[in-house]
Amino acid sequence: MICVEPARLVDAGAIHSLVTFWADRGDMLHRPIGEIYEAIRDFKVARLDGRVVGCGSLHIMGPDLAEIRSLAVDESVQGRGVGAAIVRACLEDARNLGLERVFALTYRPGFFEKQGFRLANVMEFPQKVWNECVRCPFFTNCREVAVVREVSGPDLSVPLA
Ligand SMILES: CC(C)(COP(=O)(O)OP(=O)(O)OC[C@H]1O[C@@H](n2cnc3c(N)ncnc32)[C@H](O)[C@@H]1OP(=O)(O)O)[C@@H](O)C(=O)NCCC(=O)NCCS
Repeated sequence: MICVEPARLVDAGAIHSLVTFWADRGDMLHRPIGEIYEAIRDFKVARLDGRVVGCGSLHIMGPDLAEIRSLAVDESVQGRGVGAAIVRACLEDARNLGLERVFALTYRPGFFEKQGFRLANVMEFPQKVWNECVRCPFFTNCREVAVVREVSGPDLSVPLA
C-alpha cells in the first residue's frame, strides 16, 4: 500500500537520494541536501511499507502561482500512479492555499499533460526566469519544457481527489 503524505525532516536524506539518482541521469536538476531541509515543508513523500519511494514539492512563487519541483519516483514503483498521486497532493495543497495556477519545468511534459497541465511559454513565469533560471548553469541551453494548470475551475480534466 503506497500513501502520500507531508515530508518530515527525517525524509530529507531519502528525498536527496531520489533526486540525485534522476539528476545524475539528466532527468532533473540536482538539489543540495541543505536546500531540501530548508524546503522540507514544501515536500510530499510517497511511502511503501515506510520507505520513501517518491517525492515532489510545491514551491510558492507569489500570490497566485506555485511551482511543482523535484518530482521523482523510485524505478521500482514507476507506472503505478505514484507520480500522479504526488502531483494531486500538491494541487490539493495549492487549492487549500488559494493559489490559482501551478506550473512546472520538466523533461516529461507528457506526464504532466496527463495530469491536466498544458504546455506553456516559460516567459509566462518571469519571476522564475529572472530570479532562478538566470543562475542555472543550463540557462542558455535549457531543454526543460514549461507546463501549467489552473488549480480550480469548471473545466478540470483531472479531478482533485
Ligand atoms: C515522470 C515520473 C514522475 C512519473 O511517475 P510515475 O509514478 O511513473 O507515473 P504514474 O504511474 O503516476 O503515471 C500517471 C500517468 O502518466 C503517464 N506517464 C508516466 N510517465 C510519462 C511520461 N514520461 N510521458 C507521458 N506520460 C507518462 C502514465 O502512463 C499514466 O497514464 P494513465 O493515467 O493514462 O495511466 C517518473 O517517471 C520519474 O520519477 N521520472 C524521473 C524523474 C522525472 O523525470 N521527473 C519529472 C519531473 S522533472
